[in-house]
Amino acid sequence: MRTLLTIKWTKAGVFVLCLIPLDALVWRGFHNGLGANPVEFIQLTTGDWTLRFLVFTLCITPFRKLLNLPDLIRFRRMLGLFAFSYVCLHFLTYLVLDQSFDFAGIWKDIAKRPFITVGFLGFLLLLPLAITSTAGWIRRLGGKRWQALHRAIYFAAIAGVIHYYWKVKSDVRMPLFYGALVAILLFWRLGDWFFRRRSAAGAKLSPQHAPANPMQ
Ligand code: HEM
Repeated sequence: MRTLLTIKWTKAGVFVLCLIPLDALVWRGFHNGLGANPVEFIQLTTGDWTLRFLVFTLCITPFRKLLNLPDLIRFRRMLGLFAFSYVCLHFLTYLVLDQSFDFAGIWKDIAKRPFITVGFLGFLLLLPLAITSTAGWIRRLGGKRWQALHRAIYFAAIAGVIHYYWKVKSDVRMPLFYGALVAILLFWRLGDWFFRRRSAAGAKLSPQHAPANPMQ
């Protein structure tokens, strides 16, 4: 498994896998497979995949640590950028196919329909993360500030879950399922942060018993 994660082709393979939902959508588009309401179908599919890719991205750090697979980090940026690409398609479907560039109507929608407001907030939160995802931006911001900014992905995922919950109205099982996943990932992260702080404080008190690098 470890070797597989370091191979150049594995990354290319994951990239191709991430494109499958889009390919399937395009294929359906050309084969009359988008159902009675194609705009709705595209919107629901791209919305679902945005949320899935956000969860995949959030899984990388816990899986890296719990399974001791440090090379999983190679996939995090790509998965995050796929989440952003799918939300762009989701938003573009709304902007172009649903609202036909009616900016006044869109603004009214964002202001008046809470589920659109919170979805839009999720999109706005992801925007700076996509822009600053490059090595150049990590250097410019510095590791600590970059990491702090990129924690906004949790808020974007929470906004996505609320958006989904408010949209479906009756059958809330799927939004609750995603909500539970995001909550578990968030609590794991908080727990990890808490234990690392405690071990760092312990190391300061008794340096002779401290591990070589308690922050890892
Ligand atoms: C983090 C950002 C977002 C996520 C994770 C997200 C996710 C989702 C999900 C999961 C659905 C429901 C899919 C289903 O029922 O199977 C959905 C529906 C929808 N989203 Fe989003 N969304 C986001 C942002 C936005 C934005 C920015 C807009 C537009 C301003 C938007 C507009 C819509 C609309 C109109 C629907 C309902 C589609 C329909 O019923 O025809 N979303 N979204």
